[in-house]
Amino acid sequence: MSASSPLLEISHVSKAYALDHSLSDMLARKPRARLQALRNVSLTIKPGEILGVVGESGCGKSTLGRCIVGLDKPDQGSFAWQGGGFDADRHARARQIQMVFQDPYASLNPRMTLGAMLDEVLKVHGMTADAAARSRRIDELLLMVGLTPALRERLPHAISGGQRQRISIARALAVEPRLLIADEPVSALDASVQAQIINLLADLRAKLGIAILFIAHDLNVVRHISDRIAVMYLGEIVEIAETESLFAEPRHPYTRGLLAAIPMPDPRIRTQAPGIEGEVPDPLAPPAGCGFSTRCPFVLPACRAEHPELIPEGSEHTVRCLNAAASTEFDFTHRT
Ligand SMILES: Nc1ncnc2c1ncn2[C@@H]1O[C@H](COP(=O)(O)OP(=O)(O)O)[C@@H](O)[C@H]1O
Ligand SMILES: [Mg+2]
Repeated sequence: MSASSPLLEISHVSKAYALDHSLSDMLARKPRARLQALRNVSLTIKPGEILGVVGESGCGKSTLGRCIVGLDKPDQGSFAWQGGGFDADRHARARQIQMVFQDPYASLNPRMTLGAMLDEVLKVHGMTADAAARSRRIDELLLMVGLTPALRERLPHAISGGQRQRISIARALAVEPRLLIADEPVSALDASVQAQIINLLADLRAKLGIAILFIAHDLNVVRHISDRIAVMYLGEIVEIAETESLFAEPRHPYTRGLLAAIPMPDPRIRTQAPGIEGEVPDPLAPPAGCGFSTRCPFVLPACRAEHPELIPEGSEHTVRCLNAAASTEFDFTHRT
């Protein structure tokens, strides 16, 4: 694998969930409704890259993460890991891609000390030969995530939310992953603690060279850490670009609306109105053409009929919009 070839490449990944049947649906012999959570998602992650993924709740971010780590099985699409087949490499990949969740409490065993939990992970994955070496490695992992080894004897309830998120990061790092899927890792934390965890992830990338898929519903959260950002809407990527380019020249009306909704640090120039009006469509009945056509201020008749493709606007900037040029001339911050 050359340095510039992708670590992970996913192509045309789709995933639908079959919804549970009510008794009356069953008696009426209705087919189970299918909710399209991911639609034709393609992206690459380079070694050591931080890719931010943003979008409103329900747009498919967690489904994407779960499909990548193998917690969910996509209906369609293909994956390549380090240039090779995804399935052939199943064993290595299961270790090399690790996930960190929004609520670390739910994923930590409440009755196990933090040290015992890390010891178990090291043992299960055969990472370290003997107990003494594992013990040294546990101290090293705790220090790596900014915790003191003295916390080894604590139970998860006896540490703070920020410390718990550090422990779940340490647990993921224990198996020396090459890619971390961080699914809203700071959404449950206070703002000051959020910044600490974001900085920790940035430091870990610099030190260990791991790649991170950083999922958030807020563009502000991913801005300072991401090399590139993918914006999702209704199960698909609507824009993907280098972070600077996305903030300086957002192309998709949805991205521009998200940017307009970010409060300015100076209250005098606070945006007067939220950038995007209306509700996300019911994912069980998505619009026929562009998913955003029901809320878009630039909608053309064609947008309601045709589903737009992702169109490259420069080598690292692509957008799924038939009318992107009109959107770039509109000032979302001054809507009334
Ligand atoms: N296990 C499931 N069964 C049925 N629907 C699901 C399931 N998981 C997620 N969904 C639906 O799939 C869509 C995408 O969900 P999700 O990936 O969790 O979005 P996000 O993480 O962006 O909030 C949502 O409409 C959600 O309700
Ligand atoms: Mg989610």
